[in-house]
Amino acid sequence: MFFEMDYAKEIARLKKEKNAVILAHYYQRPEIQDVADYVGDSLGLSQQAAQTDADMIVFAGVHFMAETAKILNPAKKVVLPDLNAGCSLADSCPASLFEPFVKAHPDHVVITYINCSAEIKALSDIVCTSSNALKIVNSVPKETPIIFAPDKNLGNYIMSQTGREMLLWDGSCIVHEAFSMDKLLNLHQEHPEAVIIAHPESETHILKTAQYIGSTAGMINYVKQHSDKKFIVGTEAGILHEMQKEVPGTELIPLPSKENNTCACSECAYMKVNTMQKLYDCLLNETPEIHVDEKIMDRALLPIERMLELSK
Ligand code: 13P
Ligand code: SF4
Repeated sequence: MFFEMDYAKEIARLKKEKNAVILAHYYQRPEIQDVADYVGDSLGLSQQAAQTDADMIVFAGVHFMAETAKILNPAKKVVLPDLNAGCSLADSCPASLFEPFVKAHPDHVVITYINCSAEIKALSDIVCTSSNALKIVNSVPKETPIIFAPDKNLGNYIMSQTGREMLLWDGSCIVHEAFSMDKLLNLHQEHPEAVIIAHPESETHILKTAQYIGSTAGMINYVKQHSDKKFIVGTEAGILHEMQKEVPGTELIPLPSKENNTCACSECAYMKVNTMQKLYDCLLNETPEIHVDEKIMDRALLPIERMLELSK
């Protein structure tokens, strides 16, 4: 007889037994978000990782997020359900190219978006997320030149907000860069009263149409504060699960990508490699485990701690 496991129940049992905490990003599958102890954006997740007293951190997100949790907790076991949960943005900035770039500009302060590898963080002065990038950039004296990497879209957005020139790395997120302007305009024609909200990893022409630009947590808060409106949501579709829970009566219209004609939304394939079965296996076997070179961990910790300090 075919036996179907109740993953949610088994995950809850194992989590308790092992004193583990499950941290999940808003882009994770809904069923994973529902079994997590904390669901949040990149900043919230790193703040949670910094303060947890669990023995093991199970990171339901992508590799750079789990790596950040490991850097903040070198003595704890940090596991990721699938090591293939990467990130196009992190991949767009290899350390072998970034190191000479940084060395060629020794007078620049290096600010890196958290979506990068531990090696890149180790070459940085301060890390930021989409929640605090503006604040972090503004914390650097006006006359000090800045390298901002790896996301050029977030970098351009911050430049437009601060009026400050920065040296940008040419990286981007495949999910947010794929939003279709034509489909956005058509959707807005169909729903002229809908408010367009977008994540700052999106391209400039999309951001120019948005009435609100912010991190995933920022977008959820904005929708909560204006729940009487209707929204076109310009970020990865996983956010709709938590957003709709917060505003059950509000119409949320996901923004589709250029290529996608089968589903009216945009999904990050990296985020979606994690499944309930892999989450269960990972809790049970305590693997795949995240390991980071000790020297890299030491050097990457300071720029992350600076970010956490500036975000209080
Ligand atoms: P935030 O979590 O900062 O909103 O960033 C979204 C993202 O793309 C994470 O990979
Ligand atoms: Fe990376 Fe983009 Fe996926 Fe976020 S949504 S993990 S930035 S590829």
